[in-house]
Amino acid sequence: MKKYTIMTMGCKQNESDSEIIAGMAERLGFEKTDDFKECDLIIFNTCCVRENAEERLFGKLGEIKNIKEKRGTIIAVGGCMTQQKHIMEKIKQSYNFVDLVFGTHTLNKFEEDLKKIIENKEKVRDILDIDGEIFEGLPIKREDKFKASVTIMYGCNNFCSYCIVPYVRGRERSRKRENILKEINDLALEGYKEITLLGQNVNSYNDGEDYKFANLLNDICKIDGIERIRFISPHPKDFTDDVIEAIKNNKKISRLVHLPLQSGSSNILKLMNRKYTKEDYLALVEKIRKQIPDVVFSTDIIVGFPSETEEDFEDTLDVVRKVNFEQVFMFIYSRRIGTVADKMENQIDEDVKHERFDRLKNLYDSKVSLNNQKYIGKTEKILVEGTSKNNDNMLTGRSDTNKVVVFEGSIDLIGKIVDVEIIEEHKWYLKGIVK
Ligand code: SAH
Ligand code: SF4
Ligand code: F3S
Repeated sequence: MKKYTIMTMGCKQNESDSEIIAGMAERLGFEKTDDFKECDLIIFNTCCVRENAEERLFGKLGEIKNIKEKRGTIIAVGGCMTQQKHIMEKIKQSYNFVDLVFGTHTLNKFEEDLKKIIENKEKVRDILDIDGEIFEGLPIKREDKFKASVTIMYGCNNFCSYCIVPYVRGRERSRKRENILKEINDLALEGYKEITLLGQNVNSYNDGEDYKFANLLNDICKIDGIERIRFISPHPKDFTDDVIEAIKNNKKISRLVHLPLQSGSSNILKLMNRKYTKEDYLALVEKIRKQIPDVVFSTDIIVGFPSETEEDFEDTLDVVRKVNFEQVFMFIYSRRIGTVADKMENQIDEDVKHERFDRLKNLYDSKVSLNNQKYIGKTEKILVEGTSKNNDNMLTGRSDTNKVVVFEGSIDLIGKIVDVEIIEEHKWYLKGIVK
């Protein structure tokens, strides 16, 4: 049997696309392996949200060139990065041995393109620069048996000034409710317990004036068998009261709300084109907390955006202190060709960016253990994912708020949701006993 591997380099949406690519590769008779050396097909599903992604791709392509020469392995590069003109130029000039280049708008044609390469031994460059379509009915090979991601909307219209995503993913478009609900219904029948709804701006989901994100959430909650619902990423400006109400009324919806902050400074937020201020953000957090007392928050933060002063950065630290985030995903600002921020003056020195990053990280790290204390003595519902990596006798799973919890138990519990009392915290995981 012919073997393939996929290197998935981006976000959840990118991971979800990889599952579709895998579905198509397997339909053509390829079997998955992790060993590059035995591959007949190597696929890179790329990301371009930050600079290091490019270095990684081109580094890897350099490494596998000799595998291709030895075995005749088919090399395919797809995903967000290939939607950028300068990347296509670079592939043409320095990496023209790549057999297939496809983009976010031609993901659906991967199978057809691959067939052409196998049958005609030709190279295919299949990139479209369009607003984008909605793909339905593509095969999908899911990585997980109990947790599944379901895309509900594609693209982004927000054009945050630092971000490349709107340029490579096209305009916002929502899937029809009946297709989403059918997909989740089918997943429930297959035994899936947890669903993560995906979209670059998930709460601007819109299937007509009378059917928005909150309506969809409420309908998904009615599906028997699905016990936990997450969604990423909402935009604070679109976090409407009906969504808060839906979370409040449905225990199935996770009490961990991801609410990307990006910066705590109103000046920087304006330059970022985020459309809210520091005060708006804090007021939203307060409003959600009032309605849903057991809610916790995670966030994304960028440090070193152009013209960020020490005072602006202090505002970011201030919000981190005030909100007490459960998880903080921190990024150093990275210039992206074609974005508004790339053309801004006052780009910040690398060493200042790194110094601020370290300070933010230290602040967050210093709070993790303290934050974990609130779980001790409580009973949490844990979706059991498997045995612990370090200890076969222990099981591991995740709580509603996405905490890793390790505990003793029989392997029959894998795939089930069980009550576990938390007895210890170990910074990056909690320890518990089955109730
Ligand atoms: N649509 C989602 C995810 C966007 S990409 C959202 O709006 O939350 C994921 C994260 O990458 C962003 O939230 C942001 O924090 C970070 N990011 C995006 N562009 C970046 C850039 N140019 N430099 C550094 N971090 C960036
Ligand atoms: Fe990028 Fe902003 Fe759209 Fe998120 S909302 S994908 S950060 S432009
Ligand atoms: Fe995701 Fe990276 Fe594309 S973050 S949307 S894979 S640019």
